[in-house]
Amino acid sequence: MPTYALITGASSGLGLALAEALARKGRNLILVARQREALESLACELSQRFGIEALFRVCDLAEPMRLTGLIQELEQGERHIDLLVNNAGIGTAGLFVEQDWGREQELIELNILALSRLCHAIGNSMVQHGGGQILNIASLAAFQPGPLMSNYFASKAYVLSLSEGLRHELAPYGVKVSVLCPGPVATPFFRNSLLRSEPLARHKLLADPEEVALLAVRGLEKNRAIIIPGWRNRLIPLLLRLAPRALVRHITAKTIRPLLPRQA
Ligand SMILES: NC(=O)c1ccc[n+]([C@@H]2O[C@H](COP(=O)([O-])OP(=O)(O)OC[C@H]3O[C@@H](n4cnc5c(N)ncnc54)[C@H](OP(=O)(O)O)[C@@H]3O)[C@@H](O)[C@H]2O)c1
Repeated sequence: MPTYALITGASSGLGLALAEALARKGRNLILVARQREALESLACELSQRFGIEALFRVCDLAEPMRLTGLIQELEQGERHIDLLVNNAGIGTAGLFVEQDWGREQELIELNILALSRLCHAIGNSMVQHGGGQILNIASLAAFQPGPLMSNYFASKAYVLSLSEGLRHELAPYGVKVSVLCPGPVATPFFRNSLLRSEPLARHKLLADPEEVALLAVRGLEKNRAIIIPGWRNRLIPLLLRLAPRALVRHITAKTIRPLLPRQA
C-alpha cells in the first residue's frame, strides 16, 4: 500500500517548503489548506518534478465540522499516512483584550484544536499500523510568555508540551514525534498576522523557509525530539531557563512592540 505524508498549511510559507523538501525525498503527499488554486498548482508541480503522487484537500481546519469531514474521509480511505506534518498556524498581535475574539478563537481552533485532533486521529491509525512519524510546528515562542502576542505564544507552548508528551507515550508503539521550533522565518505569516517584518529583516533575523524545511527534514530523519534551526536560536531556550521570568516578559514585549502596526 503506498504511504503518504499529510502536510497542513501547505499552500504557502514553511508548509510549501516542507512539501517540496519531502517530495524531493520521494514522499507521496496529501496537501491541506484553504486556497484551492495554490494547492492544485503545487500538487501538479511537485508530482511532475519529483515523480511522486501529490493529492490535495481543501479544508478550513479552524471549522470543527470541516475538520471532522476531513478526518472521516482519511479514516475511511485506503491511503495510509505514515507522516503527519501539523504546520498550519496563524498569529495575532496587539493587546489581547482589544483583539477581535473571532480571530483569537480561530487561532485556538487552528493552532491547538485542529493540531490535537489530527495527532489523535492519525496517531491512532499509526499505532494500529505499528509505526509512523509526526512533526508538529511550534516556534521559539513556545519557550516563553509573549506579551502583545499572548495567545500565539501560549498556543505554541501547548504544541511543544503536547509533542513532547506524545513522543514519550507513542515511542513504544513505533510512532516517533518531533517538534520544530523555528525562530522568525521569511513567510507571509507576518503579513497575515498584521505584523511588520521589516525590523527583523533589517537585522537579518529572518530565516529562509527552504533552509528551515531542509533542517526540519534532516531532524526528522535523525528522529530529533526538538528541532531548532540555527545555532543562535538553539541558545535561546537555554538562556530563557536562566533568566528571571519577569525579565523575560519585559524583553519579549520590547521585542514584539516594534513589529506591531504603527497605529498600535
Ligand atoms: N514565519 C515565522 O516566522 C514562523 C516562526 C515560527 C513558527 N512558525 C509557524 O510555522 C507555521 C507555518 O507558518 P508560515 O510562517 O509558513 O505562515 P503562512 O505563510 O501564513 O502559512 C500558514 C499556512 O496555514 C494555512 N492556514 C491558515 N489558516 C488555515 C485554516 N483555517 N485552515 C487550513 N489552513 C490554514 C495557510 O493556508 P490557506 O490560507 O490556504 O488556508 C498557509 O498555508 C505556523 O504554524 C507558524 O506558527 C512561523
